[in-house]
Amino acid sequence: MLSRLIPDYPKITLHKTSDGYEVRDHEKNMKMSLSFDDYSKVLLDKKKHQLNNIFKAKNLNILDCTGGFARDAAILASLGNNITLIERDPLIMSLLIDANKKIKSEDIRSVFSRIKIRFGDCIDFLRNMNKHFDYIYFDFMFNINRNALPSKNEQFLRKIVKNDINENINIIHETIERVSSKIIIKEHISSNDYDNFDIINTYKGKTVKYHLLHGKNGYNKIYKK
Ligand SMILES: C[S@@+](CC[C@H](N)C(=O)[O-])C[C@H]1O[C@@H](n2cnc3c(N)ncnc32)[C@H](O)[C@@H]1O
Repeated sequence: MLSRLIPDYPKITLHKTSDGYEVRDHEKNMKMSLSFDDYSKVLLDKKKHQLNNIFKAKNLNILDCTGGFARDAAILASLGNNITLIERDPLIMSLLIDANKKIKSEDIRSVFSRIKIRFGDCIDFLRNMNKHFDYIYFDFMFNINRNALPSKNEQFLRKIVKNDINENINIIHETIERVSSKIIIKEHISSNDYDNFDIINTYKGKTVKYHLLHGKNGYNKIYKK
C-alpha cells in the first residue's frame, strides 16, 4: 500500500487500492478517487460551455499550464483541440495518471487521446519549449471561494494545492515576454488579480471570467526588425 502524508496537511494520505489511487482526508472523513469517466456529462454539453465561445477554432494546440484534475483540458480536447497539460503537484499527478489508465468509456478515451499529461512546473516548460502553442491557458486556484457547495474534487484540490498569487503573476509576466501565443487566464468573477495586465477582452460567466491577453515575443521580434 502506498500511503503518502502531505507535510502541510498531515491528515491527507494517498492510497493504492484495487480500483486505483485514492486520497483520504482523515479530518473530514472523506475520500476521493479521480475518474475521467465522470466527465461524460459535462462533455455532452461541451458546445454550451463558455470555453466553446472563447476557443472558436478547432485543432488548436493548447498548453494547459495548470492541469489540476484535467476537467478544463477535457472540455477543450472534446471540442477538437490538442492539449499539453502540465501539473506540478506529485499527488495530483498520481491521480491524473491513474485516472488516465482506468478510463472505461471509448468516448472519454478518445477525448483523452488528445491530451498529453506532463509533470513539472509550467514555467520550466515555458522556458524550455520549442513548440508553438496557439493558446496558453492558466487556471490558478482561486483565492475566493464563495461556492457554498464545492464538489468533492474541488474540496480536495483546495486542501492539497498551495496558491501564491505573486508567484502566479510572475509566471504570467514571464509567459507574456516569452511567447507569441494568445493567453487565457481564468479567474473568479469577483476577484481582480490580473487587472494590471494588458487585457484584450474578458469573457464573463456566472461564477468565472476568462481574460484574453497576447504574448509579446512575436511583436518584439517584428518591432526589432
Ligand atoms: C485550480 S487547479 C486547475 C483546475 C483545472 N483547470 C481543472 O479543470 O481541473 C490549479 C492546478 O494548477 C497546478 N499548478 C499551480 N501552479 C502551477 C505551476 N506553476 N505549474 C504547474 N502546475 C501548477 C496546481 O497544482 C493545481 O493542480
